[in-house]
Amino acid sequence: MNERELFRQVADYAGDFVEALETRPIRAEQDVAELTAALGGPLPEHPADPRGVLAALVEAAEPGLVAMPSGRYFGFVIGGGVPAAVAADMLVSVWDQNAGLYVGGPAASVVEEVCRVWIAELLGLPSHVSVAFVTGTQMAHVTALAAARHHVLAQAGWDVAAEGLVGAPAIRVVVGEKRHVTVDRALRLLGIGASALEVVPADDQGRMLADRLPDLGGRPTIVCGQAGEVNTGACDDLEAIDAAASEAGAWFHVDGAFGLWAAASPQLRHLVRGAGRADSWTTDAHKWLNVAYDSGFAFCAHPEAHRAAVGVTASYLVHAEDGRERDQMDWTPEFSRRARGFAVYAAIRSLGRSGIAELVERSCAHARRFAQLLEAGGATILNDVVLNQVLVRFGDGEQTREVIRRVQEDWTCWLSGTDWQGEHAMRISVSNWRTTREDVERSAAAILAAARLHSGV
Ligand SMILES: Cc1ncc(COP(=O)(O)O)c(C=O)c1O
Repeated sequence: MNERELFRQVADYAGDFVEALETRPIRAEQDVAELTAALGGPLPEHPADPRGVLAALVEAAEPGLVAMPSGRYFGFVIGGGVPAAVAADMLVSVWDQNAGLYVGGPAASVVEEVCRVWIAELLGLPSHVSVAFVTGTQMAHVTALAAARHHVLAQAGWDVAAEGLVGAPAIRVVVGEKRHVTVDRALRLLGIGASALEVVPADDQGRMLADRLPDLGGRPTIVCGQAGEVNTGACDDLEAIDAAASEAGAWFHVDGAFGLWAAASPQLRHLVRGAGRADSWTTDAHKWLNVAYDSGFAFCAHPEAHRAAVGVTASYLVHAEDGRERDQMDWTPEFSRRARGFAVYAAIRSLGRSGIAELVERSCAHARRFAQLLEAGGATILNDVVLNQVLVRFGDGEQTREVIRRVQEDWTCWLSGTDWQGEHAMRISVSNWRTTREDVERSAAAILAAARLHSGV
């Protein structure tokens, strides 16, 4: 087997795939039964030629692929992959570093440290923040909230690393009504159940009402704010929440999965004013930075709590001794891990500060254009389109559900729905560097055509 030839074939296929994004259907074309028939079968008994394996994989998987990197994929909050990041990510597999320890690949460790400094500057975080490169915001919450848990309990005289949670002072977590569900799951994984939550109501955009925050003093308290509500893109008043949290000595955590990137734009950074004063932050590279899955970060303004919460040592490991060398497993909840910093590094180098700002601003301009076109076509826009999210209703919730179903059946673009204020709504998210104004216009026309086809709309 010739590895070089195999990799060339894959590179050619990768080129074909991205070139076809413009014309291929966005949705998958086969259902679960068809895909299982194509991909399944008995456990292979014998070795097979890798070229044959790859060819068969491509053939069987292709009809089950969604064109997520397409500029006309507007579901959930999905970035594309900027070419430099995707290519770097291919190298990550080839290089195959175990990026848990500095000794497992010094370059992998150093790019994470370099990116830590760059991203802190881009997002307006303190320069001393610690970082964990993880799979996404979900695991970033686990990491950051583990640090928060450690810190607030230590302040109450309790060492959670030594004593665990049994008998510990109760932690209170103050959250907004429209927090992302990953916050609750992270807390659950950390032994903090739903009964520990105090929920603050939200306004009609999903922003936590900062003037309804309870008194944050008196006991170990974590407050979770949000930069970018998943449906509307609205950002909490982070400045006000921070003021209340710091006065009371509470830990302030910001979920900024995509919205924190507003800080990278001089035009938009006012939306996340005050974010930089929080105690921890979570965000993704696989959303607005347009790095391929999976890639997210936890940042922490209290490196000692961060490290105490997730760090690990063992005598058989070769831990860094020089203070300039960074063992990633001191900061991540993972042990063996992929060197995901390389792709982030490549994305930042290829876009630069101005390219990132422009990407964020352009996505927001596309979202505004969507809103304008759909409204002109008779839809109701339910949110203030301040960022990259548009919430749309055609008639009532049921009619909207039907329009979404028709759009999903069409090949032009893909999006999905959500419940907003008691009724179904269409959500459009623009976070892909590939999306052009033409993509938006073509997709808006397809959505309006689906709405017209639906009787009563
Ligand atoms: C506000 C917010 N928080 C958390 C998440 C979860 O991010 P991830 O899928 O990277 O874990 C999302 C995903 O869309 C989000 O929008």
